[in-house]
Amino acid sequence: MGEITNVMEYQAIAKQKLPKMAYDYYNSGAEDEWTLKENREAFSRILFRPRILIDISKIDMTTTVLGFKISMPIMIAPTAMQKMAHPDGEYATARAASAAGTIMTLSSWATSSVEEVASTGPGIRFFQLYVYKNRKVVEQLVRRAERAGFKAIALTVDTPRLGRREADIKNRFVLPPFLTLKNFEGLDLGKMDQANDSGLASYVAGQIDRTLSWKDVKWLQSITTLPILVKGVITAEDARLAVHSGAAGIIVSNHGARQLDYVPATISALEEVVNATQGRIPVYLDGGVRRGTDVFKALALGAAGVFVGRPVVFALAAEGEAGVRNVLRMLRDEFELTMALSGCTSLAEINRSHVLTEGDRLRPKPRL
Ligand code: FNR
Repeated sequence: MGEITNVMEYQAIAKQKLPKMAYDYYNSGAEDEWTLKENREAFSRILFRPRILIDISKIDMTTTVLGFKISMPIMIAPTAMQKMAHPDGEYATARAASAAGTIMTLSSWATSSVEEVASTGPGIRFFQLYVYKNRKVVEQLVRRAERAGFKAIALTVDTPRLGRREADIKNRFVLPPFLTLKNFEGLDLGKMDQANDSGLASYVAGQIDRTLSWKDVKWLQSITTLPILVKGVITAEDARLAVHSGAAGIIVSNHGARQLDYVPATISALEEVVNATQGRIPVYLDGGVRRGTDVFKALALGAAGVFVGRPVVFALAAEGEAGVRNVLRMLRDEFELTMALSGCTSLAEINRSHVLTEGDRLRPKPRL
């Protein structure tokens, strides 16, 4: 393996190392994968307006998320079934996040349980929740996450049914028999049956509650005191509803382009959501973040922080915990350099004037 100089390089290594079924599951987007491509391309259409001759000898990247201080505004998104990538799976991710001083979000569909992840040592962790038809199961799981010290619930709201990921259909994707969805082991929901299409799509169709609605955000608040992040908002309308529902924050996400194809890139939807929330709750973003420059662009457009998904699983596949550490380090270093070269010494200094979007270029120029 030659020297890795950016997080995208892990993808090719993961492709070589992993069985096709696992790699395709991690990599794929929905249908034409238009949004998958767009999540990246939309970042590349945003340009910088850097400021110069500012003393940048000291740069502070620390921030606070729901009251928890972290080292940088870069966190780990929930991605399911990490032991398919590496035997250490979620343990490795948890340790790497903790070493980097940032937050890991554990998927409901992790191959390690909330208790097992907690046992890796201290760290600030969020728990991503899928709402099952059987609400008793959900209540139990939320209780276990609370007891295991998880600090917030990321409620995924874009998956009442699974998006059509054609590679998974062709591969007849199932969780390998030596693994289980550990949080559901013992509840008879930890295994995934073979199906005539994607085993995961069938599992979702059988178990996940399609009736989920805004009133369930209230229901969730009635069973937990943990703050709730609504993950999967991409419109102003839903951003306002999220604020009214009492959400502690929003994650602008299109599920890594794995659900509805032809939704805009998250970085294109971000400003609309930020404006609709009027600063009442923090807005985070995930989807296509691969560079420190992407992190900066998201913050300039109003995000309070970002989450990364695929780079973590690809790095896990390549190098386990060391790979995830390296992903976090590279993103951090790139982000710090972007701040320096833009003339920003703290996150508070990053603002809308530091970027130029396509929309800005079409509008008449303001007189400065
Ligand atoms: C995901 N994502 C996801 N989201 C969620 O709420 N629960 C989950 O279990 C999963 N699982 C999952 C598996 C894999 C392999 C991927 C790629 C994604 C979505 C994830 O949290 C996040 O929204 C995206 O991954 C962000 O986009 P990038 O960084 O992968 O481009």
